[in-house]
Amino acid sequence: MNISQNTILITGGSSGIGLALAQRFLEDNNKVIIVGRNEEKLKKAQQKHPHLHTSVCDVGEEADRTALFEWVKKEFPDVNVLINNAGIQQRANLHQAADHWADYRKEISINVDGPIHLSMLFAPYFAHKEKSGIINVSSGLAFTPGVWVPVYSASKAAIHSFTISLRLQLAETGTEVIEVLPPAVNTDLGGAGQHTFGADLNEFADSVYNRIKQGDLEIGFGASEKRLRASRDELEEGTKKAWENFLRNNPDFL
Ligand SMILES: NC(=O)c1ccc[n+]([C@@H]2O[C@H](COP(=O)([O-])OP(=O)(O)OC[C@H]3O[C@@H](n4cnc5c(N)ncnc54)[C@H](OP(=O)(O)O)[C@@H]3O)[C@@H](O)[C@H]2O)c1
Repeated sequence: MNISQNTILITGGSSGIGLALAQRFLEDNNKVIIVGRNEEKLKKAQQKHPHLHTSVCDVGEEADRTALFEWVKKEFPDVNVLINNAGIQQRANLHQAADHWADYRKEISINVDGPIHLSMLFAPYFAHKEKSGIINVSSGLAFTPGVWVPVYSASKAAIHSFTISLRLQLAETGTEVIEVLPPAVNTDLGGAGQHTFGADLNEFADSVYNRIKQGDLEIGFGASEKRLRASRDELEEGTKKAWENFLRNNPDFL
């Protein structure tokens, strides 16, 4: 993927990882459109980066996704890169989760339906272009489920799997399919303060951006990079240790 002169749609570009990537793409002479649910957050991002284009969209809603596709094609026909970054994360005590099914259904709609459906909408449009890209943001938890966020972890494993199929099916087109697998990064994911222990956002975004430039297709960082090459035993061990650690810090969780 060329790193400049693209027209890039970033879902969930109003904060965190999406906004950090938006900023870097803007600096390299790309047109960038960000979407999110909260109009105020989008406006704030635009005040900071006046060249950003914005639109309100809930990627968890099928009608919003279709409307977004039609709007982007009409307003930005040169669009050639889709970054499926929007996501939410919820803790779930599976002994009681059924009482909150609507919330978990929504998590699946946003984290799974959103990127899969948007990829299906944009891939045929991109196929006619000389160069294009679809970048899916999954998670290191695709490999070692965060047991306290089981629906989220499953959603990210689904996106990892889907991205492999997408890459192979589009192999003969000009569309490069990239997966970004963040480790814990210090953003507001899951609510303010939940990820302060994570990697520095700018260090993470700089690394991801440089690796997109280099042409890497599976991009982790720190702990998640290691997981990409870990054995099944190492992954199982890591999952159990993280769960034990979580329970030590959250003894009332179950
Ligand atoms: N931070 C981490 O530790 C970490 C680790 C692994 C993977 N990730 C992944 O990285 C991606 C970005 O997360 P982040 O850490 O940057 O979190 P964040 O700061 O909370 O940003 C999430 C972004 O997604 C948007 N969003 C959420 N639901 C949406 C929806 N239904 N439709 C459209 N936009 C929506 C949010 O805006 P609105 O709220 O206004 O909609 C916001 O712009 C997510 O896919 C996340 O799973 C993050």
